[in-house]
Amino acid sequence: MTGGRSPGGPFQQKDSPAAMTAAEQDRQRRLEWFRAARFGMFVHWGLYSLIGRHEWAMNRERIPVEEYERLADAFRPLPRPARMWAQLAVETGMRYIVMTAKHHEGYCLWDSELTDYNSARRGPGRDLVAEFVEAAREAGLRVGLYYSLNDWHHPDGRECLYDGEARKRFVEYTHGLVRELCSNYGKIDILWYDCPYPLTAQGWESERMNAMVRSLQPDILINNRSRIPEDFETPEQHITPAKGGRAWESCMTLNDSWGYTPIDRNYKNAWQVVRMLRQVASHGGNLLLNIGPAPDGSIPPVYREVFGQVGRWLEKNGPAIYDASEPMVQDWQATGDFTRRGNTAYFHCNRWPGSTLVIGGFETKVLSVRYPGGPTVEFEQTPGRLILKGLPMEAPDHLATVFEIECDGEPRQRLSPLMQAPDEDLESWYKH
Ligand code: GLC
Repeated sequence: MTGGRSPGGPFQQKDSPAAMTAAEQDRQRRLEWFRAARFGMFVHWGLYSLIGRHEWAMNRERIPVEEYERLADAFRPLPRPARMWAQLAVETGMRYIVMTAKHHEGYCLWDSELTDYNSARRGPGRDLVAEFVEAAREAGLRVGLYYSLNDWHHPDGRECLYDGEARKRFVEYTHGLVRELCSNYGKIDILWYDCPYPLTAQGWESERMNAMVRSLQPDILINNRSRIPEDFETPEQHITPAKGGRAWESCMTLNDSWGYTPIDRNYKNAWQVVRMLRQVASHGGNLLLNIGPAPDGSIPPVYREVFGQVGRWLEKNGPAIYDASEPMVQDWQATGDFTRRGNTAYFHCNRWPGSTLVIGGFETKVLSVRYPGGPTVEFEQTPGRLILKGLPMEAPDHLATVFEIECDGEPRQRLSPLMQAPDEDLESWYKH
């Protein structure tokens, strides 16, 4: 990963602007808002929501196309559910929102000229993408559209791998649908492709498709799932920083399914979400956290509960997440981890030790310690140890209590090699 502080953030290309190609400079410009946004909402909503057994139900249960299609007629969403999602996103501290315009099932949530299998002509009789974009804009969120290249409904979607003519037809259909999304809804901030199976970039003619996208939406960000790297990486269900200073966004579910799946009760709690935010922030990435609305578009209560707690935590601790994405030299501690901005280290203590908190290996001279926006904390610094004293026995915040540690230089916390335990082992035991 690249280091160093540059005006647009530490994770950008190291090269001087002169050495960057014009295209690369433009990419960095387009990425500015995204790198600062940190946190977004993913919305998986479609006909699969009516089934309630994962968005792959059509495929996993081998539901015949004709039978599956009938779900469209039963799809009767509440008026403008996207407003509820957008409001929840804002309350949670999210700054952008991405909705599945078409998932692998092939049903389009907009008024397409290219297929009648869409929400305006079959089922709700409404353009749900239009409603979504409008609601997101009203709430001040950046807008992303998810588009699955893979398609289980279109007859050529299955044949395109073996039959050249089918591929040509299907590629034209695909480019046409993407063109509609980029033409009919004003400014779109992100095009979030998914599942390029079964074709290669050549097969999809991804370069031509993305050039068309950029000609319609010059500022758009395109993810890496048309089998071309484009603007950002998309680690799925894990938090792994991208290499070479590339922008990245981890997409995560709250339970283990993307679409509405009430039988899947393995929900993450707010403590885990806050930890994920700290993990992405400390490596300059984003978190795209998913909701799977019910068939009528309403938000299952568990999301409101968990997201509400996260939003309240971010209200207090926002600076430690949104603005603290510079890499920090740090070694594993049982009690928490750091994010950093310049000479300020934020220690996110998510395993509370009681009245005294000791951080081993803190090398930089500390000027002050305080709760963000709150009172100062008494501390003592000895060679290699930072000791915070007089703390309450109970954690002030069970999700993570943040300490803002102002230093007289770049904060570093590093244990001497002699005392160094095999970090990887410890880390995997503790699963930070
Ligand atoms: C996978 C799944 C899909 C989900 C996506 C989100 O590709 O196939 O169901 O929408 O991940 O990243």
